[in-house]
Amino acid sequence: MKNIEPHPDSESRLWLEQTWGKIIGKVENMCESIGADFPYASYHGKYNREQADWWTNGFWPGLLWLVYRETKDERLKEAAALTEARMDLVLNDFFPLHHDVGFMWSLSSVAQFKLLGHEDSRRRAMTAASHLAGRFNPAGQFIRAWNQPERVGWAIIDCMMNLPLLYWASEETKDPRFRHIARLHADTTLREFLRPDGSTHHIVCFDPETGERQEALGGQGYDPDSAWSRGTAWAIYGMALSARYTGDRRYIDAAKRSAHFFLANLPDDGLPPWDFRAPWEEGMAMDSTASACAASGLLELSLLVPSSESRMYFDAAEKLIRKLDEQYTAWNDPHEEAILLFGTANSPRKTHVNVPIIYGDYFFAEAICKLRSIKDTFW
Ligand code: GLY
Repeated sequence: MKNIEPHPDSESRLWLEQTWGKIIGKVENMCESIGADFPYASYHGKYNREQADWWTNGFWPGLLWLVYRETKDERLKEAAALTEARMDLVLNDFFPLHHDVGFMWSLSSVAQFKLLGHEDSRRRAMTAASHLAGRFNPAGQFIRAWNQPERVGWAIIDCMMNLPLLYWASEETKDPRFRHIARLHADTTLREFLRPDGSTHHIVCFDPETGERQEALGGQGYDPDSAWSRGTAWAIYGMALSARYTGDRRYIDAAKRSAHFFLANLPDDGLPPWDFRAPWEEGMAMDSTASACAASGLLELSLLVPSSESRMYFDAAEKLIRKLDEQYTAWNDPHEEAILLFGTANSPRKTHVNVPIIYGDYFFAEAICKLRSIKDTFW
């Protein structure tokens, strides 16, 4: 794997080390108050909690593992391992599973397995990968997203981030079937979701019997033809990850297309609106999580392109993370346990608007780790 060096100037290095130090402090404090639980969005300075099946439940153990990887603080390891074990309730069929098992078990079980070789973690991740593979619809060549009967033919852009669990499972078992499914889904996404300008649909519906494409839906975006900003970030990072695992140039080109769309539409301060094509209005929902995820995706992309292009993506990511750091982090608020402010989960439904969200914290910390010196990811 190519290793891009952080900027040699001491100011940049100092900023990165200081920011990483602040992340360690935040995560240690969060660990005290959250322990082995399922934090999601922060209100009045404290993260609320979700049930064991919630799609974001990998991000908290993932954040703990990012920090543990360097500090070897046993308290963080215990909290991450216990959070993962609590998700067994879901794997053991108490809750119905959905396609977001990739988000959930890549950052918990795959992370623990990569770091510590824990056999239970490998088994959990393999169980989750088998479930994800089982959601594949061969007629439409897509992975089914959700479980409602009327959504049997729905796929969503977010699923690109679930595919690394399948690629990992193929590498682990030396059985290419998981990878074949991931590639077929990625190809469908390329063909049916991504537009020529690099923006993407959130939801595409297929006839589950014939596999024929029926329509696109707005979903968490403004309308079927709009450009949900976090969806764009899922496209950048997800396509880059598929490219990393397969070496397929088409995925690199797709990640680049979405990256250029994201950067060209980003406001100067690095904080995107929830949808790049939503009409501007007073008090609009913004989404820092989209920028944090896009930045980490740009850093992934910087490893896949020729050296003449690498630095451009690396620098764009650094600039973006710096802007978030300068204006949209909670370092100076001792009453806020989260790191990154102004995330939006779902603007159309008005759920968790302009508040810290756990995946914003995760991607911000992951991007800082990569900027310090690019290391293996848990994806
Ligand atoms: N995967 C759902 C979301 O990005 O909000």
